[in-house]
Amino acid sequence: MADTTYEATEPQSQQCEALPPIRNLNANNELPSYMSEVYDWAYVDPQKVDWLDRNIVVKTLLFGNDQRLMRRYLERIRPGTRVWQVAHVYGDLVSKVAQRVGAKGSFHLTDITPAQIAHAQRKIGHLPWARVIRHDASHFQNDGKPYDLVCSFFLLHEVPEEWKQAVVNNMLAQVVPDGEVIFVDYHKPAWWQPIGYILRVVNHLLEPFAKALWEREISSYADNADQYNWDKRCIFGGVYQIVRVTRKA
Ligand SMILES: C[S@@+](CC[C@H](N)C(=O)[O-])C[C@H]1O[C@@H](n2cnc3c(N)ncnc32)[C@H](O)[C@@H]1O
Repeated sequence: MADTTYEATEPQSQQCEALPPIRNLNANNELPSYMSEVYDWAYVDPQKVDWLDRNIVVKTLLFGNDQRLMRRYLERIRPGTRVWQVAHVYGDLVSKVAQRVGAKGSFHLTDITPAQIAHAQRKIGHLPWARVIRHDASHFQNDGKPYDLVCSFFLLHEVPEEWKQAVVNNMLAQVVPDGEVIFVDYHKPAWWQPIGYILRVVNHLLEPFAKALWEREISSYADNADQYNWDKRCIFGGVYQIVRVTRKA
């Protein structure tokens, strides 16, 4: 199994000093080492991305739950909503988000991988209200203008622990006080769910950072979790979680 300990790339001279604040993780937006070492086959190699970027791949990976999971996100969007999605997803999800947001809203999509950025650009780059931005989600900021809705659709299980923490905190920081953050991701399956046994093998072989979401609540990554309401729903025998986060009054 791949080594799951990753650190942000820092100049040699800084490596002996105290660790940088977590928000500065990957401040130069370089490709994090976990992307090339663990996910090259999925998101970095442009030819493989060309081959994988299809709805049928998403449907297969999510055991047919793709539309159900996407609906939980899409139904939170009204025409005119300002949305930040932290990472690209294969297939037509980003086109659907852009359509629902419409010309009166804005849709900002970030991703760290050039091949994924190129695909996203092809899908939504022509829409004046959509922007595709190469940026690490752990410290992206939209010139201080917060969003109504911020969504992570299956990013957290693919990043190391320190990135999970930084991404969760940054998402919470980039939303307006009455806005919403939504996480759609894996969760610990119920003992009786047979898919859980398949996922144990998949996680062991391909997804070294996913198991943490079986063991920890997403809220546990937030610095000020008690300032928010965390509404968690699980579907498909606990395999997936949809967590909606709003600020307490
Ligand atoms: C959303 S996740 C998993 C999605 C799912 N497997 C699918 O169907 O596409 C995959 C994306 O996250 C991106 N990514 C990984 N680490 C990132 C980071 N720190 N910031 C922004 N994007 C990141 C990858 O480049 C990739 O495009």
